[in-house]
Amino acid sequence: MKKRESWGSHLGFIMAAAGSAIGLGNIWKFPYIAGENGGAAFVFIYLICIAVIGLPVLMAEILMGRATQRNPVGAFRALNNSKFWVGVGGLGVIAGFLILSYYSVVAGWALGYVVEAVKGSFYQYTTPQMAGEHFNQLVGTPAWILGYHFLFSAITMGVVYAGVKGGIELGSKIMMPVLFGILIILVIRGVTLPGSSKGLAFLWVADWSKISGNSVLVALGHAFFTLSLGMGAMMTYGSYMSSKDNIPNSSLQIVALDTIIALLAGIAIFTAVFSAGLDPAVGPGLIFQTLPVVFAKMPGGYIFSILFFILLFLAALSSAISLLEVIVAYFVDEREWPRHKAVLTMGTVVFLIGVPSALSYNLMSNVHFFGLNFFDTVDYLAANILLPLGGLLISIFVAWIWGSDRAIRAVKTGASRWFKEHHQISEGWLTVLKYLAPVMIFIVFLYSIGVIKL
Ligand code: PFF
Repeated sequence: MKKRESWGSHLGFIMAAAGSAIGLGNIWKFPYIAGENGGAAFVFIYLICIAVIGLPVLMAEILMGRATQRNPVGAFRALNNSKFWVGVGGLGVIAGFLILSYYSVVAGWALGYVVEAVKGSFYQYTTPQMAGEHFNQLVGTPAWILGYHFLFSAITMGVVYAGVKGGIELGSKIMMPVLFGILIILVIRGVTLPGSSKGLAFLWVADWSKISGNSVLVALGHAFFTLSLGMGAMMTYGSYMSSKDNIPNSSLQIVALDTIIALLAGIAIFTAVFSAGLDPAVGPGLIFQTLPVVFAKMPGGYIFSILFFILLFLAALSSAISLLEVIVAYFVDEREWPRHKAVLTMGTVVFLIGVPSALSYNLMSNVHFFGLNFFDTVDYLAANILLPLGGLLISIFVAWIWGSDRAIRAVKTGASRWFKEHHQISEGWLTVLKYLAPVMIFIVFLYSIGVIKL
């Protein structure tokens, strides 16, 4: 049998996993949901969700991958060969298809906006309405939206085609430092703008009156999405690790990097938005409609707008490759397909599933399912239903089915002496997986499907 692929170094794994976690969720979604939910108070709740639920579930996912050296389906099968649990792994692979299909459409906008920024298009705008009209006109053009969706899919396939070490790891080791460098430049630009302190205050001074039960659930749901949890992406990346790797420390590093990047993106965006006197709570249009106007008004805005959309593109690419890798790993491990066949065939399938999402903004704008267009339906199904469900089942599986003793022994393998000697830590981790995570995630799930209303 052919030897399975693996990471070349610990740093390579951290960069790839952080790359998966850091994505549109951090640069696009986090700032706008923080903006809508009152800023600092929301950030505080989000940090608690990340630390108390996100980190333990992340450890559980990486652990399952490392212990079995398999994709999500193979991982469940190796630990418990029941149809139900193997099916849970299968749901993860399906979520991979669905999420990547529309993720690549939005990532395509980022790519298209790099071109718009280079063309200097943003200088025509004086109000967010004008920027919004331009945005609607672009996404309303099938050739524009499909073209960039195709280009982005092709780039993602190119990276994954080159393999775990030569493609994903190498790509992440180049992309992540560039991404960090660009973000630091944008943060420095943001905080040195006149009036930027209002933006900082928005992020740091809590307005608790804006917090509702709804905000807590949005925060927890986002904690899942941003850490790429609930569908086996981190499990797949964990499956290329060795038993010498330290899972608790690695997970902590991934969570820290993801959180730092989200906060820095928040600082870069809100300092600039407040300095331009614009509204921070406009929702999903914050990046494509408000920011271009901010750039038009900012000294040096031309160059900063290009950097910003390159940042968004790189963040999206390093996440997209992890989504495609889940699917590819399944076909390579379980169906014994060669990597190139899995990448080319399944990459094309994902692109095709994404076509109706791309057309939701133009030719298919009249097609609705339960009031949502195709794009929003897939997003809802995957991010609001499949991910929480997956996270819930993974927690239950590790804590109850695989079993406390085995899970604790596995998590200690490769861990630091300190972690091994302080049993309370690993027991605390397991307790969260046993009770707190399933209960909390279940509540989020009920909320997502509309059973609970807040
Ligand atoms: N974590 C990514 C983001 O924040 O944009 C999204 C994501 C990637 C979700 C990979 C799930 C996944 F498996």
